[in-house]
Amino acid sequence: MAAIKITENLYSVGILNPNMRIFDVVMRTEYGTTYNSYLLRGEQKTALIETCHKTYFEQYLSNIREIADTEQIDYIILNHCEPDHSGALAELLSLCPNAEILVSRAGAIYLKNITNREDLKIRFVKDGESIDLGGRQLRFNSAPFLHWPDSMFTWDEQDKTLFSCDMFGSHYCEPHTFDYNIVYPGQYQQALKGYYDAIFGPFKPYVLAGMEKIADLPIERICTSHGPVLSRGCLMEQVMEQYRAWSQPAAKEQKSIPVFYCSAYGNTGKIAQAIAQGIKEALPEADCPVYDVNDHEMGFLQGELNASDAFAVGSPTINQDAVAPIWNLLSHVDAINNKKRPALVFGSYGWSGEAVPNLTARLTGLKSSVFGEGFKVTFVPSDEDLCKAKELGKAFAESL
Ligand code: FEO
Repeated sequence: MAAIKITENLYSVGILNPNMRIFDVVMRTEYGTTYNSYLLRGEQKTALIETCHKTYFEQYLSNIREIADTEQIDYIILNHCEPDHSGALAELLSLCPNAEILVSRAGAIYLKNITNREDLKIRFVKDGESIDLGGRQLRFNSAPFLHWPDSMFTWDEQDKTLFSCDMFGSHYCEPHTFDYNIVYPGQYQQALKGYYDAIFGPFKPYVLAGMEKIADLPIERICTSHGPVLSRGCLMEQVMEQYRAWSQPAAKEQKSIPVFYCSAYGNTGKIAQAIAQGIKEALPEADCPVYDVNDHEMGFLQGELNASDAFAVGSPTINQDAVAPIWNLLSHVDAINNKKRPALVFGSYGWSGEAVPNLTARLTGLKSSVFGEGFKVTFVPSDEDLCKAKELGKAFAESL
């Protein structure tokens, strides 16, 4: 039996993927993930909430069939249309001749492009709109940018169950469905926070707005799209409070201006230290840590960069470019919240020095406000070069 009963007529029919280690190409998932999907029966109608990744279609279908024939499904509700939840839809639909797909207005547009089909029976539901399954009302609440523009919540008034899309989820897989069965709570907490940082960190004001929207609901459980079902009296209240706390605007007393660098022979490292000295001279209260990118976890550096008020980044030029760890760091820039964040670029080089202009171009593309032309030194920085680097750091800090 792979389908799991949650309440009378509410079943989990999703997929466990304990072996997944990288989600969406870039996100490490040390504890696997689950693709949650829920089958819900009213007296007259049956609804399926979310589908799953297309790779797991056969197992998913088998889970559904433990509870209902696919011909009995009247509604397929997609709280958002990302392919980890919509991937199995097209194949499933061929077995669900009666199913109407319910999505938000934005979701209807995405779904046509995801399936490349014009013949889908799609109905978009408005914020606050309800459907009746027979003795069971489902209400839809739009939840934009949690974490896609088309995201919405589905609220089951009878069971007091919130289907929260990706919100409150986690890439975490244990054999059992519920939060009160978690065997490794420490690992779950790591997964919960990592998931929040990667998926919801860029959307903190929207998280708070979404929580305001559900604040008055007498929620008994939250059925997320990944990870365990959260129950009142177990982890539900705690996770909601964690989301609220993590989403508060940071009350910073001092500016954070980290300096990131890689250095092949110590030369770019010397420039990094000189720039940091200049920053501290102009803004003694500022927090200005200097990070050799190879000495720290990328997740930590990513958090430092994305929480900064401004930053400096330096790379030597190797093979006519900046080095891979620095590109890796910039690939984790939260582009949504990076607009106009001041950045200073620097680096030592031997022959041609493309690292600085290439990083400048990349940061400009990320909408950073890049300070000046950047700072390049040929081979080993002289005392005069280091004075210039320090003055540049000072000028950068004074411009903030
Ligand atoms: Fe789990 Fe945004 O998809």
